[in-house]
Amino acid sequence: MVLLASKIIKTILIGKGNVGESFINLLYEKNNYLNQKLGIEIKVIAIFEIDGALIDDDGINLKEIIESKENFRELKYWNKGVLAKDKIKELNADILIETTPTNVKTGEPAITHIKEALKSNKDVISSNKAPFYLKYHELEKLAKDNNRLMRFEATVGSAIPCLAMEELLNGNIIEGIYAILNGTSNYILSRMTSEGISFEFALKEAQELGYAEADPTLDIEGYDAAGKLVILANKLMGWNKTIDDVEIQGISKIKNQVVELAKSEDVLVKHLAIAESDKLIVEPRLVKKDSPLAINGTLNVVQIKTRYAGDIILTGRGAGGNEAASAIINDLLYIVSRRFSN
Ligand SMILES: NC(=O)c1ccc[n+]([C@@H]2O[C@H](COP(=O)([O-])OP(=O)(O)OC[C@H]3O[C@@H](n4cnc5c(N)ncnc54)[C@H](OP(=O)(O)O)[C@@H]3O)[C@@H](O)[C@H]2O)c1
Repeated sequence: MVLLASKIIKTILIGKGNVGESFINLLYEKNNYLNQKLGIEIKVIAIFEIDGALIDDDGINLKEIIESKENFRELKYWNKGVLAKDKIKELNADILIETTPTNVKTGEPAITHIKEALKSNKDVISSNKAPFYLKYHELEKLAKDNNRLMRFEATVGSAIPCLAMEELLNGNIIEGIYAILNGTSNYILSRMTSEGISFEFALKEAQELGYAEADPTLDIEGYDAAGKLVILANKLMGWNKTIDDVEIQGISKIKNQVVELAKSEDVLVKHLAIAESDKLIVEPRLVKKDSPLAINGTLNVVQIKTRYAGDIILTGRGAGGNEAASAIINDLLYIVSRRFSN
């Protein structure tokens, strides 16, 4: 891309957790490259936490933030009690990056943050998926009405460029999606298959290894995968669905006898997310051992069925702070290339 020389792009980051901090680290690492190769300088002018914000209109010193670790509230830029929802509109920035925790029921505070940004001339990047499986079309319309861009690659498969396939396959027609979108449930089923252990035992192991939350309900009952499936189907196939449209069945009732029986028949039990014939389904299904969907461990896979090129398969690690941060930087560069190139 050819960019205007030394263009300064101002960003706001909301949420300084796993993804937010990984983004700060990665941006710090890549800023020289972006400056030399692309002639852009990405500045972070505000970082919001739940109880206040670091703000500097000239750009926060990222090195200082990284070195301060958990003590960032002692820095001179810290404004106690200043909240994103009240401040977004008045900040002079180009792009807002949303990385607050996912609220599966309301999508808040992320939906408010995104709306405030779109209404005040800021493009939006989000790693938070709830706004997009609850209110995708409302947000898309708001973005369009305000001539803003909205990117959310990290919400599905983290760094796996699933959503970018919309542009990359424009010359084709996507007819269906078959995917494994939750690393925790895939890990559990993989271990039940390879070790012959029970669901309960495999879940405990996943929790001990940090692959599953203390409350694993969203992962094992399919809600997390369902949300990601909605985002994929809406973005790649232009559907107009929400998570309420997904038929969801979890994996917690699967007995290891069933997994063993499947194995003896040369098939595997997998927790699939399927979008086909105007239907969205998340449920355990049998897949052949040589299927692209027969992936193991915490990996994710997305099989895109196209009309003119058969199946296109993407696979990789579907979670992780660095993975999500790299997807955010990609989204940033996408926006920069659309907004600031000649
Ligand atoms: N981690 C991953 O692998 C990954 C991958 C892809 C997408 N995602 C998504 O990305 C988002 C962030 O994930 P994460 O792992 O970074 O979560 P996290 O570690 O819990 O970080 C979220 C941060 O947001 C802060 N926060 C909460 N409410 C806020 C508010 N109203 N204003 C400003 N900050 C607020 C939290 O502060 P407190 O801790 O003080 O509450 C925390 O620092 C989630 O929606 C997640 O689903 C995560």
